[in-house]
Amino acid sequence: MDVKRTVGGGLTSRYPELGTGPVPVEPYISPVYYAREKAQIFKKMWLQVGRVEEIPNAGDYFVKDLAACDTSIIVVRNKQGEIRAMHNVCSHRMNQIAYDRCGHTRKFFCKFHGWAYDLDGKLTGVPDEDCFFDLDKADHGLTRVACDVWQGFIFVNMDPQPALSLEDFMKPMFGGIEGYPFDKMTVGFEWSTTVDCNWKIALDAFQEAYHVAYVHGHSIADAIDKADGGSMPPLDALCGEFHRCLSLGGNQKSVYGNPKALTSGGEVAKEALEGASSRPIAAAALRAGMGNTKHAFPLDALPAGVNWTQGANWLFDINVVFPDFYLSLRPNYCQAYNFRPIAHNKTLLEARVYYPEMTGAGGRFFLEYMKVALRDVLLEDLSTLERTQRAVETGAKTHMILQDNEVLVRHNFHVVDRLVNASSTI
Ligand code: FES
Ligand SMILES: [Fe+2]
Repeated sequence: MDVKRTVGGGLTSRYPELGTGPVPVEPYISPVYYAREKAQIFKKMWLQVGRVEEIPNAGDYFVKDLAACDTSIIVVRNKQGEIRAMHNVCSHRMNQIAYDRCGHTRKFFCKFHGWAYDLDGKLTGVPDEDCFFDLDKADHGLTRVACDVWQGFIFVNMDPQPALSLEDFMKPMFGGIEGYPFDKMTVGFEWSTTVDCNWKIALDAFQEAYHVAYVHGHSIADAIDKADGGSMPPLDALCGEFHRCLSLGGNQKSVYGNPKALTSGGEVAKEALEGASSRPIAAAALRAGMGNTKHAFPLDALPAGVNWTQGANWLFDINVVFPDFYLSLRPNYCQAYNFRPIAHNKTLLEARVYYPEMTGAGGRFFLEYMKVALRDVLLEDLSTLERTQRAVETGAKTHMILQDNEVLVRHNFHVVDRLVNASSTI
């Protein structure tokens, strides 16, 4: 997996295998294509399902429905502190074991006939056990799912023998962001919603910044550097065997755009305040929040894979962990969004925004402001998706046209298509 790291110039031309031609839209509307994506991608690749902080103690668990894998899984911390994943399917007559979305338990008891499983999924109790025929409990635990952790993010893989370890999957592209202070962040706010569009249409809207000047024209467009000609051209883009990254620069004289806002160690991010003068509530929120974070993340303390071009006007990086996990990084906060397919034209968006813990009322105020501000930005991002899906389904157009700064959209199409058409395993 060769990751090219040349800065500047044409982005797409660095990846000649992607071509520059129109991209077919059939993969966005075809139920047959989606069925192949499920088989060739979602049931074989590592999928991010949560973070270790969600289940800090032995017996803590959460349940994740993965429609693209045709299953629901239980992710639990066992007595040894290890994280396990198993299908949420009883070995007896297949009832779901866990009904709640999350919880804490000593054992899992099936609510149908009372079979009991320990935190490793081993079958430990069967009412009327003597009435069964040669039942060996050791053979009938819950079906385990491959599970591993990268930087505190929990991943599962439906393939009983994944072609790549999680480390080998992540390292080539994301080794450089290991050490980002994910563990010092807490969930600032989160949303989930179902959108009537293909998962790639949803993800694509988040892996380019060409749309910022238009869709976000009244919200965060002040983060665009006017000298860039009205758009937000990337500082650089990286396309790997599976994953991709986009580093974005712009106007740091804005609350949204300034990567130092709030977590600059108590030192006022003057540029951000200066730029926020036309946005008095944003400026007030920023002022209130200064010095109210439990942790500060100086730019030079971040791992080399964050702001990898060392761009002076850097705003943030978008990292797309194939297939459906969007992770954007700044020193202040990070956004972790999953675009989970439900059907060829339906997607579950789970969005979490992580911030350092706020230590005072001013910090809480800042967080509430950002919650509303980023909610509006997210709603703007969602505003086109269902319309785009309906428009693609008309069949009026068979291909879309992509510019250089939309190289990640092009890359996603190529990776998905390569895997969908692979005859065997990856
Ligand atoms: S289905 Fe679970 S105990 Fe019978
Ligand atoms: Fe956007």
